[in-house]
Amino acid sequence: MSTWIDACAVDDVDEEDLITWEHGGKLYAIYNTEKGFFATDGLCTHEEQSLEEGLVVGCVIECPLHGGRFDICTGKALSTPVSINLATYPVKVEGGRVYVQVS
Ligand code: FES
Repeated sequence: MSTWIDACAVDDVDEEDLITWEHGGKLYAIYNTEKGFFATDGLCTHEEQSLEEGLVVGCVIECPLHGGRFDICTGKALSTPVSINLATYPVKVEGGRVYVQVS
């Protein structure tokens, strides 16, 4: 069953940046991009590095460890050394809060 969880305030995530958020023993990344808010797994699929210190450029997140890049909107792995896509999660914004749909 999927549930919407109140993850953070809109203001908690700077524009073109992300925060990580832990829920149910799992790390998520929440992004504020030019296309709106998105959520993915918070760990890189290459070597499970947290993406918290990663660089957001447009709708791309670059892993801080080896520079692998993912499309934030789709989770698609874009450049080596990453080859496995990031899981993505539905996001909605209501009343100044960011909700993530987790299973
Ligand atoms: Fe992310 Fe290697 S851990 S690219």
